[in-house]
Amino acid sequence: MKTVKVGLIGFGTVGGGTVDILKNTLPEIQRRIGQTVEITIIAMRDLQRTRPVDTGDIPLTDQASDVVNHPDVEIVVELMGGTSVAKSLLETAIRNGKHVVTANKALIAEHGNELFALAEKHQVMIAYEAAVAGGIPIIKALREGLAGNRIEWLAGIINGTGNYILTEMKQPNADFYQVLKTAQELGYAEANPTFDVEGIDAAHKLTILASIAFGIELQFDKVYTEGISRVTADDIRYAEQMGYAVKHLGIASRTATGFSLRVHPTLIPDNVLIANVNGVMNAVMAYGNHVGPTMYYGPGAGAGPTASAVVADIIDVIRWKHQPTEDRVPALGFKADQMKNQPVVDIDEIETAYYIRCFALDHAGVLAKITTILADYEISVEHMLQEPSTNNSKDATLVMVTNTVKENKLNQALQTLQALDEIDGEIMRIRVDALG
Ligand code: NDP
Ligand code: HSE
Repeated sequence: MKTVKVGLIGFGTVGGGTVDILKNTLPEIQRRIGQTVEITIIAMRDLQRTRPVDTGDIPLTDQASDVVNHPDVEIVVELMGGTSVAKSLLETAIRNGKHVVTANKALIAEHGNELFALAEKHQVMIAYEAAVAGGIPIIKALREGLAGNRIEWLAGIINGTGNYILTEMKQPNADFYQVLKTAQELGYAEANPTFDVEGIDAAHKLTILASIAFGIELQFDKVYTEGISRVTADDIRYAEQMGYAVKHLGIASRTATGFSLRVHPTLIPDNVLIANVNGVMNAVMAYGNHVGPTMYYGPGAGAGPTASAVVADIIDVIRWKHQPTEDRVPALGFKADQMKNQPVVDIDEIETAYYIRCFALDHAGVLAKITTILADYEISVEHMLQEPSTNNSKDATLVMVTNTVKENKLNQALQTLQALDEIDGEIMRIRVDALG
């Protein structure tokens, strides 16, 4: 049986999971491809540290350059993360004629345009299924499974850590930072968990999904990005009382004036399927003009699910590597010379409904004053909930869901409200979307 030699850079959560699958599921892989896969070398930073996965007699190195320059390695699997060192290593690998498999969404979202061009020039593949939504084969589904459609929009819960935190915050007395710590221990979080909490990781993933869905270049810097750090357990509870779940969504859609690319917390009616995706699970909805609405669900982070996608990519590369470049599935689903850029609409221009939560002096007439100001901006209140003041606070909590309104008008109304003496603290607003 022919042997394909693979070199790994990174032996952490995903690297460990990948070695584990390649060791323990090899007979099944051999049955699929009629070839065998050998891990020829693994790079990591610290060779002294005890690892949970046994590497047997696989040579180890603390020099990642040993992998990308290894004469026998045909496929370099990059599972180290980061953008600068990883980019230069992969450029070397590509120039050395090696195919690349990576789980690194930051690298693909920020430097994918250049890396794919370089790979095409050197006639090698870059496979990156593990970069989005962990174990869900969403890249393949969008790029190949839905290729007969014009994708109109997609929306997804694409950060497992964020969804895990929002789910756990429903427990009484849950502490945001304690829940984040557990997500880190479970191997879900990025090396810098701010990426998860502030929406950057989801923005990386949305950049990739939007590019594949619409045939546009990767444009990470144009994604509007808001994380979950300002969402409180009370917001989640109020939303529930009004029939909504709070989810952190990545949304990409076609509009009359361009593409809308945004990542932010969103209230979704609780009877919509995706509103019930909890814990580390991810889900992506994609609407194709022929197929209509579709949804893909599965674990979004962690060793097993992510490594499952890495190994599927290794298998794909082995199956396709002898095909001429022009016959392979293009990296972003559309031929490189057919990628079309169109304007990305400013967040101020989107139209949606909003959840507003504020603390207002518990006096007669205050509510009327607030709703009058909203009405001045042609904003009506569709649902409202009020919690009276308590012994500890003279403020009542007012929670409202508005009609659909342009974001800049909502912002002007909130500025006016914020300036009132009767309003205490910062007004919270979360976008509301019924997703279809
Ligand atoms: P870890 O931090 O667990 O592992 C990173 C590994 O890379 C470690 O083994 C580390 O070595 C090694 N490494 C870092 N820098 C270097 C270097 N310069 N040279 C050699 N080795 C290096 O990260 P994860 O496994 O969680 O993530 C890896 C990649 O996968 C990231 O791009 C991440 O975004 C992505 N990803 C992660 C998912 C997850 O659920 N964790 C899911 C989807 C994608 P050492 O162990 O010695 O420190
Ligand atoms: N930190 C990421 C997440 C890993 O929590 O979704 C999977 O990409």
